[in-house]
Amino acid sequence: MSTSAPGAEQPESFAFSATNRKQVKVLLGRYPKGRQASAVLPLLDLAQRQSDGWLPQPAIEHVAGLLDMPAMRVQEVASFYTMFNLAPVGKYLLQLCGTTPCWLRGSDEVRQAITEICGIGVGETSEDGLFTLVEVECLGACVNAPMVQINDDFYEDLDTEKIKKLLIALKNGETPAMGPQNGRRSSEPLGGATTLKSKIQTKTKRTR
Ligand code: FES
Repeated sequence: MSTSAPGAEQPESFAFSATNRKQVKVLLGRYPKGRQASAVLPLLDLAQRQSDGWLPQPAIEHVAGLLDMPAMRVQEVASFYTMFNLAPVGKYLLQLCGTTPCWLRGSDEVRQAITEICGIGVGETSEDGLFTLVEVECLGACVNAPMVQINDDFYEDLDTEKIKKLLIALKNGETPAMGPQNGRRSSEPLGGATTLKSKIQTKTKRTR
Protein backbone atom coordinates (compact mmCIF):
# COMPACT_ATOMS: atom_id res chain seq x y z
CA MET A 1 0.00 0.00 0.00
CA SER A 2 1.10 3.53 -0.65
CA THR A 3 1.98 5.95 2.14
CA SER A 4 -1.26 7.55 3.21
CA ALA A 5 -2.69 9.56 6.07
CA PRO A 6 -6.44 10.09 6.16
CA GLY A 7 -7.21 13.76 6.51
CA ALA A 8 -3.96 15.03 4.99
CA GLU A 9 -4.48 18.70 4.15
CA GLN A 10 -5.30 18.94 0.46
CA PRO A 11 -4.55 21.83 -1.91
CA GLU A 12 -7.57 23.35 -3.62
CA SER A 13 -6.47 22.46 -7.13
CA PHE A 14 -3.77 20.91 -9.27
CA ALA A 15 -2.59 21.50 -12.82
CA PHE A 16 0.58 20.37 -14.54
CA SER A 17 3.22 23.05 -15.04
CA ALA A 18 4.00 24.23 -18.58
CA THR A 19 7.10 22.00 -18.67
CA ASN A 20 5.20 18.99 -17.41
CA ARG A 21 2.37 19.57 -19.88
CA LYS A 22 4.92 19.01 -22.64
CA GLN A 23 6.05 15.84 -20.88
CA VAL A 24 2.42 14.68 -20.60
CA LYS A 25 2.15 14.99 -24.38
CA VAL A 26 5.30 12.90 -24.82
CA LEU A 27 4.02 10.23 -22.43
CA LEU A 28 0.59 10.04 -24.06
CA GLY A 29 2.27 9.72 -27.46
CA ARG A 30 3.81 6.41 -26.37
CA TYR A 31 0.45 4.65 -26.40
CA PRO A 32 -1.95 3.88 -29.25
CA LYS A 33 -5.02 6.04 -29.69
CA GLY A 34 -7.78 4.98 -27.32
CA ARG A 35 -5.26 3.38 -24.92
CA GLN A 36 -4.17 6.56 -23.13
CA ALA A 37 -5.23 5.02 -19.80
CA SER A 38 -2.02 2.98 -20.04
CA ALA A 39 -0.17 6.19 -19.20
CA VAL A 40 -1.72 6.35 -15.73
CA LEU A 41 1.45 5.28 -13.88
CA PRO A 42 3.88 7.72 -15.56
CA LEU A 43 1.36 10.57 -15.26
CA LEU A 44 0.82 9.91 -11.56
CA ASP A 45 4.59 9.78 -11.13
CA LEU A 46 4.95 13.12 -12.90
CA ALA A 47 2.19 14.65 -10.75
CA GLN A 48 3.86 13.34 -7.59
CA ARG A 49 7.23 14.80 -8.57
CA GLN A 50 5.57 18.17 -9.16
CA SER A 51 3.87 18.00 -5.75
CA ASP A 52 6.95 17.56 -3.54
CA GLY A 53 6.77 13.79 -3.45
CA TRP A 54 3.11 13.13 -2.74
CA LEU A 55 -0.16 12.87 -4.65
CA PRO A 56 -2.87 15.27 -3.48
CA GLN A 57 -6.45 14.35 -4.31
CA PRO A 58 -6.81 17.15 -6.92
CA ALA A 59 -3.75 15.73 -8.74
CA ILE A 60 -5.36 12.29 -8.91
CA GLU A 61 -8.56 13.85 -10.27
CA HIS A 62 -6.59 15.93 -12.77
CA VAL A 63 -4.82 12.83 -14.12
CA ALA A 64 -8.16 11.01 -14.30
CA GLY A 65 -9.59 13.88 -16.35
CA LEU A 66 -6.63 13.87 -18.75
CA LEU A 67 -6.96 10.14 -19.31
CA ASP A 68 -10.74 10.11 -19.42
CA MET A 69 -10.82 7.63 -16.55
CA PRO A 70 -13.14 7.54 -13.52
CA ALA A 71 -11.30 9.24 -10.62
CA MET A 72 -11.92 6.16 -8.48
CA ARG A 73 -9.95 3.95 -10.86
CA VAL A 74 -6.98 6.30 -10.72
CA GLN A 75 -7.37 6.43 -6.93
CA GLU A 76 -7.21 2.63 -6.86
CA VAL A 77 -3.93 2.67 -8.81
CA ALA A 78 -2.45 5.41 -6.60
CA SER A 79 -3.38 3.59 -3.39
CA PHE A 80 -2.06 0.21 -4.59
CA TYR A 81 1.57 0.99 -5.37
CA THR A 82 4.10 1.87 -2.65
CA MET A 83 5.74 4.28 -5.09
CA PHE A 84 2.85 6.70 -4.58
CA ASN A 85 2.35 8.70 -1.39
CA LEU A 86 -1.13 9.95 -0.54
CA ALA A 87 0.11 12.22 2.23
CA PRO A 88 3.01 14.68 2.42
CA VAL A 89 6.45 13.14 2.96
CA GLY A 90 9.78 14.54 4.08
CA LYS A 91 12.42 15.87 1.74
CA TYR A 92 14.05 12.44 1.93
CA LEU A 93 11.78 9.40 1.67
CA LEU A 94 13.58 6.46 3.28
CA GLN A 95 12.25 3.17 1.93
CA LEU A 96 13.76 0.48 4.10
CA CYS A 97 13.62 -3.03 2.68
CA GLY A 98 12.55 -5.49 5.36
CA THR A 99 12.22 -8.62 3.23
CA THR A 100 14.07 -11.80 4.24
CA PRO A 101 17.56 -11.26 2.70
CA CYS A 102 17.73 -7.68 4.03
CA TRP A 103 16.25 -8.75 7.36
CA LEU A 104 18.80 -11.55 7.75
CA ARG A 105 21.59 -9.06 6.94
CA GLY A 106 20.49 -6.52 9.58
CA SER A 107 17.57 -4.37 8.39
CA ASP A 108 16.26 -4.26 11.98
CA GLU A 109 19.50 -2.64 13.13
CA VAL A 110 19.36 -0.22 10.16
CA ARG A 111 15.82 0.75 11.20
CA GLN A 112 16.92 1.33 14.79
CA ALA A 113 19.77 3.54 13.56
CA ILE A 114 17.31 5.59 11.46
CA THR A 115 15.10 6.02 14.53
CA GLU A 116 18.10 7.10 16.58
CA ILE A 117 19.31 9.73 14.09
CA CYS A 118 15.98 11.00 12.72
CA GLY A 119 13.72 10.40 15.74
CA ILE A 120 11.08 8.59 13.67
CA GLY A 121 9.57 5.14 13.41
CA VAL A 122 8.01 3.46 10.37
CA GLY A 123 5.27 5.63 8.83
CA GLU A 124 6.50 8.82 10.53
CA THR A 125 8.06 12.08 9.34
CA SER A 126 10.76 13.86 11.34
CA GLU A 127 9.87 17.17 13.00
CA ASP A 128 12.27 19.09 10.76
CA GLY A 129 10.43 17.72 7.69
CA LEU A 130 13.60 16.13 6.34
CA PHE A 131 12.88 12.41 6.65
CA THR A 132 9.95 10.03 6.22
CA LEU A 133 10.50 6.34 6.94
CA VAL A 134 8.51 3.55 5.32
CA GLU A 135 9.19 -0.17 5.22
CA VAL A 136 8.81 -1.84 1.84
CA GLU A 137 9.13 -5.29 0.32
CA CYS A 138 12.10 -6.46 -1.77
CA LEU A 139 13.50 -3.72 -4.03
CA GLY A 140 15.55 -6.16 -6.09
CA ALA A 141 18.98 -5.39 -4.62
CA CYS A 142 19.13 -8.45 -2.32
CA VAL A 143 22.73 -9.26 -3.24
CA ASN A 144 23.67 -5.92 -1.65
CA ALA A 145 21.48 -6.37 1.46
CA PRO A 146 20.61 -4.61 3.62
CA MET A 147 19.58 -1.58 1.63
CA VAL A 148 17.48 1.57 1.73
CA GLN A 149 16.08 3.55 -1.19
CA ILE A 150 16.37 7.28 -0.55
CA ASN A 151 14.18 9.17 -3.01
CA ASP A 152 15.31 7.74 -6.38
CA ASP A 153 18.61 6.22 -5.28
CA PHE A 154 19.67 2.90 -3.76
CA TYR A 155 22.09 2.84 -0.80
CA GLU A 156 23.36 -0.68 -0.29
CA ASP A 157 25.58 -2.89 1.87
CA LEU A 158 24.54 -0.91 4.95
CA ASP A 159 25.18 -1.40 8.61
CA THR A 160 24.44 0.74 11.64
CA GLU A 161 27.41 3.03 11.24
CA LYS A 162 27.02 3.44 7.48
CA ILE A 163 23.34 4.44 7.59
CA LYS A 164 24.06 6.88 10.42
CA LYS A 165 26.85 8.46 8.38
CA LEU A 166 24.52 8.75 5.37
CA LEU A 167 21.73 10.38 7.35
CA ILE A 168 24.07 12.86 9.01
CA ALA A 169 25.48 13.78 5.58
CA LEU A 170 21.93 14.40 4.30
CA LYS A 171 21.17 16.52 7.37
CA ASN A 172 24.26 18.57 6.57
CA GLY A 173 23.00 19.21 3.04
CA GLU A 174 25.51 16.86 1.42
CA THR A 175 24.74 14.37 -1.35
CA PRO A 176 26.33 11.04 -0.44
CA ALA A 177 27.34 8.74 -3.28
CA MET A 178 24.66 6.15 -3.98
CA GLY A 179 25.28 2.43 -4.39
CA PRO A 180 27.27 0.04 -2.20
CA GLN A 181 28.56 1.72 0.96
CA ASN A 182 31.28 -0.84 1.72
CA GLY A 183 33.61 0.01 -1.14
CA ARG A 184 32.74 -2.76 -3.53
CA ARG A 185 31.76 -2.14 -7.12
CA SER A 186 28.17 -3.01 -7.95
CA SER A 187 27.58 -6.55 -6.65
CA GLU A 188 31.12 -7.80 -7.22
CA PRO A 189 32.92 -9.56 -4.34
CA LEU A 190 34.50 -7.14 -1.86
CA GLY A 191 38.03 -7.79 -3.13
CA GLY A 192 37.03 -7.29 -6.76
CA ALA A 193 36.06 -9.66 -9.56
CA THR A 194 37.11 -13.31 -9.21
CA THR A 195 36.07 -14.55 -12.65
CA LEU A 196 35.97 -13.20 -16.21
CA LYS A 197 39.01 -11.08 -15.42
CA SER A 198 40.73 -11.24 -18.80
CA LYS A 199 39.49 -9.51 -21.90
CA ILE A 200 38.31 -11.92 -24.56
CA GLN A 201 39.53 -11.14 -28.06
CA THR A 202 36.89 -11.89 -30.64
CA LYS A 203 37.68 -12.05 -34.30
CA THR A 204 34.91 -11.41 -36.72
CA LYS A 205 35.14 -13.64 -39.75
CA ARG A 206 33.64 -12.45 -42.95
CA THR A 207 31.53 -15.04 -44.68
CA ARG A 208 30.26 -14.80 -48.17
S1 FES B 1 15.32 -8.44 0.13
FE1 FES B 1 15.94 -6.40 0.30
S2 FES B 1 16.35 -5.84 -1.75
FE2 FES B 1 15.63 -7.86 -1.91
